[in-house]
Amino acid sequence: MDDTQLTRRALLGSAAAGAAGLALGGPLSRSALAARGDFRLGFESVARELSIGSLDVDGSVPGWLRGTLVRNGPGRYEVGDKSFEHWFDGLAMLHAFSFGRGRVGYANRFLRSSSYEAAERDGVIAFNEFATDPCRAIFNGTAAMFKLAPVPNANVNVARLGREFVAMTELPLPVKFDPETLRTVGAQGEALRLGNTGTAHPHRTRSGRSVTYEVELIPPSAYIVRSGGRELARIPVTKPAYMHSFSLTERFAVLTEQPFAVDPMKLVTDWEPYIRNFRWDGSAPTRMHVVDLERGGVRATLETDAFFTFHHVNAFDDGDRITVDLLAYDDATVIDALYLKKLRDLSVKRVPAATPRRLTLDLAKNRVTSRELWDGAVELPRVDYGAVNARPYRYVYGVGVRDRRKSSFFDQLVKLDVRSGEPRIWREDGCFPGEAVFVRAPAARREDDGVALSVVLDSRRRTSFLLVLDARTFTERARAVVPQPVPFGFHGELFR
Ligand SMILES: [Fe+2]
Repeated sequence: MDDTQLTRRALLGSAAAGAAGLALGGPLSRSALAARGDFRLGFESVARELSIGSLDVDGSVPGWLRGTLVRNGPGRYEVGDKSFEHWFDGLAMLHAFSFGRGRVGYANRFLRSSSYEAAERDGVIAFNEFATDPCRAIFNGTAAMFKLAPVPNANVNVARLGREFVAMTELPLPVKFDPETLRTVGAQGEALRLGNTGTAHPHRTRSGRSVTYEVELIPPSAYIVRSGGRELARIPVTKPAYMHSFSLTERFAVLTEQPFAVDPMKLVTDWEPYIRNFRWDGSAPTRMHVVDLERGGVRATLETDAFFTFHHVNAFDDGDRITVDLLAYDDATVIDALYLKKLRDLSVKRVPAATPRRLTLDLAKNRVTSRELWDGAVELPRVDYGAVNARPYRYVYGVGVRDRRKSSFFDQLVKLDVRSGEPRIWREDGCFPGEAVFVRAPAARREDDGVALSVVLDSRRRTSFLLVLDARTFTERARAVVPQPVPFGFHGELFR
């Protein structure tokens, strides 16, 4: 997207009638709110789709930074007089930050998913989401059956697949979009099948092969690892686990089967929203499945103590030892904590925070050992993917919390040196940052030569800004201010 295509104009002002006035929950002291800032603004819907050629920039954006950072996440939570239940349910909105000659442009646009179209056209929640079922009224008051969207509400991540740009959620049906205009092109692939889920975090090998997995929830249930069009492994399972990401080493794919699993029969008989069918069993192990990328098949399945994870960070292998770094929670209560009612209730003091953990899988001894890499919180992890994925590495960038007991939401950025366990922190009062995308500098000599790009909610000014951090020092180089709040999202990618 270049500057000539971006003009300061609002394209649309239709959605989210309820966006302006969400009820404040829980007791709240004005002084506490003034000190901490009110993160709940990041869970309000935005109505306006903007296209702005050049944002006001404070500081200096590196001239070498080119391309468009596309970010994905919920942009709207209300439909008619109903609301989605969970952070993960909101209607997908794409945000584009375009870089060139030191300038930063901005545009945002709702993904025209089936859910969005139904919300606009009929004013109803028409399809199943992560934690919200369709409005029962549209089924004449009968129980809501699973209703699969022809174009999913792909609000989690974006990627370039070959020559196409796609938005993704945890379904094996990406949605194509035009990165120049953020226009939705349509679903890529065949219609969804009931009970067939996927990942919004596919990998690619150093030779450029894609590696991904699917989970067949309906019997015969299985985890299926694919590379390109080829099925690498099929791992049968009685009660499939919820899985959000996985990791690659140069020789293996590593899947985490955590004890947060579903009885498939509940899924087809109970009609609970999808994620509410899953149950945590802390007495059961977490299983690590190691799939051979060349020969296919499962090389090993190792067991360790129960933990919950959304995000693997990175992994690498050395002979029969595999190192897997991931962000671990004690259990799956984080999913409950991310219901909008709880997030908007200031009497709920904290969101469970994940700790970076290193698992060492000893294939010869069939044993897993683990240790914390740091005792602080990290989520939404990024590494210099092109250079270090599947290899030994040193730095992970993520969001974190400054005080596990008091912070209600992510209120700092963290750069962690996984070798030394030393963190560097960026924070500012009243500010709530999102995922930090690392971008390597041209002719980089060190792993952290580059910048980290994060969209930060400035709750006091009721705006957001694109923060450009020097990745080495983790200090601010520039910020570009968006004239409206950008709701909290999940993942993004710089496309060049
Ligand atoms: Fe994710």
